[in-house]
Amino acid sequence: MNGGGKVVCVTGASGYIASWIVKLLLLRGYTVKGTVRDPEDQKKTGHLLALDGAKERLKLFKANLLDEGSFEQAIDGCDAVIHPASPVSLTVADPQAELIKPAVMGTINILKTCTKVSTVKRVIITSSMATILFPKSPIKPNDFVDETTFSDPSVCEEEKQWYILSKTLAEDAAWQFAKANNIDLIVMNPGLVIGPILQPTLNFSVDVIVDFINGKNLFNRRYHRLVDVRDVALAHVKALETPSANGRYIIDAPIVTTNDIEKVLREFFPDLCIAEENEDIDIISMTYNVSVEKVKNLGIEFTPTETSLRDTVLSLKEKCLV
Ligand SMILES: NC(=O)c1ccc[n+]([C@@H]2O[C@H](COP(=O)([O-])OP(=O)(O)OC[C@H]3O[C@@H](n4cnc5c(N)ncnc54)[C@H](OP(=O)(O)O)[C@@H]3O)[C@@H](O)[C@H]2O)c1
Repeated sequence: MNGGGKVVCVTGASGYIASWIVKLLLLRGYTVKGTVRDPEDQKKTGHLLALDGAKERLKLFKANLLDEGSFEQAIDGCDAVIHPASPVSLTVADPQAELIKPAVMGTINILKTCTKVSTVKRVIITSSMATILFPKSPIKPNDFVDETTFSDPSVCEEEKQWYILSKTLAEDAAWQFAKANNIDLIVMNPGLVIGPILQPTLNFSVDVIVDFINGKNLFNRRYHRLVDVRDVALAHVKALETPSANGRYIIDAPIVTTNDIEKVLREFFPDLCIAEENEDIDIISMTYNVSVEKVKNLGIEFTPTETSLRDTVLSLKEKCLV
């Protein structure tokens, strides 16, 4: 047990990745102060309250990214804050109100509160590969990508990639605020996350696998990178527990093809039919080379994509979501 006596706030605790972070923290002996928009909503909180250790060491607080100061009670007395809460959607009517404002304002609200709570020693934000893959000069197949690459907001805007823009602006605002206010900030940059779900409903990235099961290749991609939620959650916890951890951490998986995905899914759905594209026609080619040395040095060993896919389907079946 690493966390005995330590208190960690996890924002958006009922979300896909956050639920796994809460689970790992509880297993490692931490006390967790989780934030949710509505603590009375059993559908959002039931799976958290049922986790091992939750009865003794999990408390849920009401907080909304858009309400200034609403995270104060949850952050009060914490040793660290992990901040995954952010809207995740590619289809919105009003990008500013639905994505950008909550992502950026929420991040600054939380960091502002952290500056007022002297016990908070480290803040870990869940950013995304999205904040890396859209720099001013486009990433080409076989280019090398590491933590020094930053997406450019004007590129995201030109491409009308509002989710990517929200994450890029939020991460940028976080680095600026942390620098100005001397906050020990660490940023995690995962690729598309799959793996078993703890929450009862589908989240965006696991829904991509449900799409495959339904014969749809959402991004029209031939190449994919699918990282396991358990590795992503553990990376957050390792970043918390490793005093020398710093800066950004790419958490991305090796390339797999649509065929590779299909092969695993066919074990469960023999009649599966996925329309495959002849080439990668998404806005970004997934055939970039990526450095994951930094996160491996935190002690992360990546789960093979095949295992993640199998475990995703098993959990979807168990929850009657496919
Ligand atoms: N899944 C991926 O493939 C992936 C990849 C890279 C990065 N990320 C990042 O990882 C984080 C978690 O994503 P996820 O996949 O776990 O998605 P998720 O399950 O949709 O979780 C998002 C969380 O944000 C909360 N949230 C949204 N708007 C909010 C608001 N206004 N106030 C308070 N909370 C709000 C949601 O609360 P409700 O439950 O109340 O809606 C939910 O708990 C996000 O920052 C996302 O950008 C995800």
